[in-house]
Amino acid sequence: MRFRDPKNGYSWLSIALHWLTAIIILTLWFIGSSINADRTNGSLATLNLHTSIAITAYALLWARIIWRFWYKHPGPMPAQAGLFYEIGKYTHYLLIASIAAMLLSGPLMVWSRGDAIHVWNWFVIPGPFPDSVTAFDVFHTIHVWCSRVIIIGTILHIGGVYKHAAFNQDGTFSKMLIATRDEH
Ligand code: HEM
Ligand code: HEM
Repeated sequence: MRFRDPKNGYSWLSIALHWLTAIIILTLWFIGSSINADRTNGSLATLNLHTSIAITAYALLWARIIWRFWYKHPGPMPAQAGLFYEIGKYTHYLLIASIAAMLLSGPLMVWSRGDAIHVWNWFVIPGPFPDSVTAFDVFHTIHVWCSRVIIIGTILHIGGVYKHAAFNQDGTFSKMLIATRDEH
């Protein structure tokens, strides 16, 4: 089985990484959005659930990011070429860059607040540096804004896929369901 993407499609590995991480990111997004700043209504448990899932999936999410930046985005199929392909491609890169920013800002935000990262009831990861309100504000702002980029980008992304599937019927959706055969 081929791991690298063919010229204008995705390998099974890319497809598996896409769907697995899409589910994890949307889950993290919804759980993250349910954390109340004042930690009421079980929000501490929600926060610990958020950090536990994030740390469990941490290496996988980085693997997905590095994989795409390292091997680059595959080229368009003949029916896809043009301005909309370029917009789609850079939306994909923006989504991946935002996920990287979430993975960095998340732990830095927890530590700069003087907390440790809770991972299930297994262990905690204490901060390697002293807390700082200024640093917390910066990392928190990055985390919140990148989470907005992710959700707006994902809505546009799903809208684009829907347009291709419902109107263009050009194989864009099936490209992410079945690996493309490499003719080379
Ligand atoms: C792709 C990965 C991640 C996504 C999509 C994500 C998403 C979110 C979202 C949507 C929020 C709510 C933001 C708001 O207040 O509007 C949030 C909050 C939070 N996230 Fe993440 N997150 C991710 C990774 C992480 C990681 C790796 C950590 C730390 C280990 C983390 C720690 C936190 C904490 C502590 C909060 C609560 C901040 C507060 O006190 O208001 N997140 N996250
Ligand atoms: C849940 C509904 C989703 C559907 C139906 C969907 C569908 C697709 C399809 C069909 C492609 C191939 C587009 C092409 O190459 O022309 C694609 C690529 C991509 N999607 Fe999604 N997607 C979904 C969710 C997500 C989410 C939540 C993210 C990340 C936040 C994401 C990030 C990406 C990225 C970065 C690519 C570029 C290829 C790659 O690196 O995997 N998708 N998606």
